[in-house]
Amino acid sequence: LHDWGSRDQTFIDTTLAMREHLVTVADGGHEFTTVPIQGSGTFAVEAMIGTFLPRHGKLLIVVNGAYGQRITKICDYLKRAYVVTKTPEDAPPDPNDVEAILKTDAAISHVVIVQCETTSGILNPLKEIAAVVAEGNRRLMIDAMSAFGAIPFSLSDVACDALAASSNKCFEGVPGIGFVLCRKSALAETEGNAHSLSLDLFDQWQALEGGGQWRFTPPTQVVFAFNRALEAHAAEGGVEARYRRYTNNCNTLIDGMHELGFETLLPHNLQAPIIVTFRMPIDPKFDFQVFYDKLKEKGFVIYPGKLTIADSFRMGCIGALTGRDIQAAVAAVGKTMSEMGVTSGKAA
Ligand SMILES: Cc1ncc(COP(=O)(O)O)c(C=O)c1O
Repeated sequence: LHDWGSRDQTFIDTTLAMREHLVTVADGGHEFTTVPIQGSGTFAVEAMIGTFLPRHGKLLIVVNGAYGQRITKICDYLKRAYVVTKTPEDAPPDPNDVEAILKTDAAISHVVIVQCETTSGILNPLKEIAAVVAEGNRRLMIDAMSAFGAIPFSLSDVACDALAASSNKCFEGVPGIGFVLCRKSALAETEGNAHSLSLDLFDQWQALEGGGQWRFTPPTQVVFAFNRALEAHAAEGGVEARYRRYTNNCNTLIDGMHELGFETLLPHNLQAPIIVTFRMPIDPKFDFQVFYDKLKEKGFVIYPGKLTIADSFRMGCIGALTGRDIQAAVAAVGKTMSEMGVTSGKAA
């Protein structure tokens, strides 16, 4: 509730601490810098594409869900050239396909991939895709919105120019800023690329490196809260510890829901411990809105499905939650089913 001054040294120091901390989490060394941007995660993704993809560049977008699809929309708005390689929402992209496209289309300068496609909860083969992109001498950008901070990852073994994420997913901060981890040498070449002043990462970087200030009014409270969230992340044991806790949450959730008859969309080897998609039960007494409302009354808010291939709903594993919270959520699902007269979550 403190009224922080955005031009004050305390805030400038806090911004710098946040930027440096994020580079450390990703193992970025001296080669990377963090450029924060006001807004939600999409603002950061749009800023990343607009800044790093030159106006005459061409982007290969690896799509297997709504967030990859959204990047095509961003390119339409930005009027940047792109091609898409698409797999179904429950299938990972094949690095051989990416390699083949890069071999046949010399105009492609950049590739972008979503690390964890939150549409389904699938973990995409980032390292393998990064390897073929590097092999093909192209530049890689990553939407790591729902992965960064909890899925083990090092910039020293994934060659990329930029990675976008936000304050409010695996770092458990409040929403309000996105950020892009940028390879400094690549960022230095981006002057004049951006289509938008407020989403120009090069310009934001210059201001931050100059006087340490954000160009335009920053969400000061969000930045302080994010720094506290980063301290909590480190105190818990960093990415490894968060990965373990979320994995435990995810396994507890899937085991409990299986016992109630529910079926997951993804096989276990493709499932990221972030969000789980369940197929909609076939029991005619199962009405999703009633199910949702009754769970909410019990203190558990879930997600509607976002798939185009199957009727589904989703439950999250991330946030300040432990296995006990997940067990309580599963118990609430069981109680809700009895209240609705649904005997099983079976989908087919
Ligand atoms: C992978 C991915 N990309 C982008 C976004 C967009 O973030 P926001 O809704 O904060 O704009 C999300 C949000 O869930 C996401 O999961």
